[in-house]
Amino acid sequence: MSRRAVIAGSGSALPARRISNAELAETVDTSDEWIVERTGIRFRHVAGEGETTATLATDAARRALDAAGMAAADIDLIVLATATPDQTFPATATKVQAALGIDDCVAFDVQAVCSGFLYALSVAESMIRAGGATNALVIGAETFSRILDWEDRTTCVLFGDGAGAIVLRAEEGGDAGVLSVALHADGRHNQLLYVDGGPSTTQTVGKLRMKGPEVFKHAVVNLAAVLGETLAKAGLGVADVDWVVPHQANRRILDATARKLHLAPEKVIVTVDQHANTSAASVPLAFDTAVRDGRIKRGDLLVFEAMGGGFTWGAAAIRY
Ligand code: COA
Repeated sequence: MSRRAVIAGSGSALPARRISNAELAETVDTSDEWIVERTGIRFRHVAGEGETTATLATDAARRALDAAGMAAADIDLIVLATATPDQTFPATATKVQAALGIDDCVAFDVQAVCSGFLYALSVAESMIRAGGATNALVIGAETFSRILDWEDRTTCVLFGDGAGAIVLRAEEGGDAGVLSVALHADGRHNQLLYVDGGPSTTQTVGKLRMKGPEVFKHAVVNLAAVLGETLAKAGLGVADVDWVVPHQANRRILDATARKLHLAPEKVIVTVDQHANTSAASVPLAFDTAVRDGRIKRGDLLVFEAMGGGFTWGAAAIRY
């Protein structure tokens, strides 16, 4: 019987403060109409004092453990995806580990920007299948508000803060679990979406910079291709999919990708209106939202997909 990584539970967390487009338009030259029409975004949550990537990640992880009916002590692996760690090091995963009171487990961060959760999922799933872990917390958590240039209207309206987590549990047999993962990176596009700082270059944290329209074009092509690739790896087709849980960057990217794949728009989970782009947090946050509001049910066939800076992109087919 084959060993699979099954999603045992999920959780998410958002900062208390929620900012509308109209509030943003008080300080930046933009408007609710422009943001809604070009992106579908209406609100984003922004971390306040005392809220960090680690605190959001810990809250999401606790909720995921509760949903799975598991204790923190059951966890033997934490993989946390983030591009906005609390500190350059130690890994934010170890801060979550300490906050959860886990004395010993494997804990590290992965960094693939908006695709980070797909990369983290792939690492954790591979370790579980290989027998190197049994119960893993896979977390996407970000505080992009802290690396935004709040005077640049072409980027600051697009992002938000938050965290999402799942517990992956090893199970033998059955048909639930991660069925396939496909990951890619193409570093030739480093300069289309990046942060203009870092410890080894400027010794500053830096700010996010993006050539939005060029990212847009690559996103639709790459996401449609990788979604098809992961389904083919699992021996499935678009018609088998119950829900696509995409990275929530822009409503127009979601619609264009669905059209390209001849996928019914009502099968696509959309939360970008409420959360904006939360980078590595966006897929698990959208997933947990749709599980808790009853759309996603046990037995459903899901496809997670994301693309981000690098470029990096990936998708996973999962029987929930
Ligand atoms: N408010 C008002 N006007 C704005 C604006 C804002 N927040 N941001 C840009 N504009 C203006 C531009 O200055 C430009 O004005 P101009 O025509 O006078 O030069 C105009 O709106 C059109 O800008 P453009 O960049 O061509 O718009 P767009 O339709 O491509 O939308 C994005 C811009 C960023 C929303 C879109 O390109 C996008 O979503 N790209 C993908 C970004 C992404 O998802 N990145 C993350 C991937 S992980």
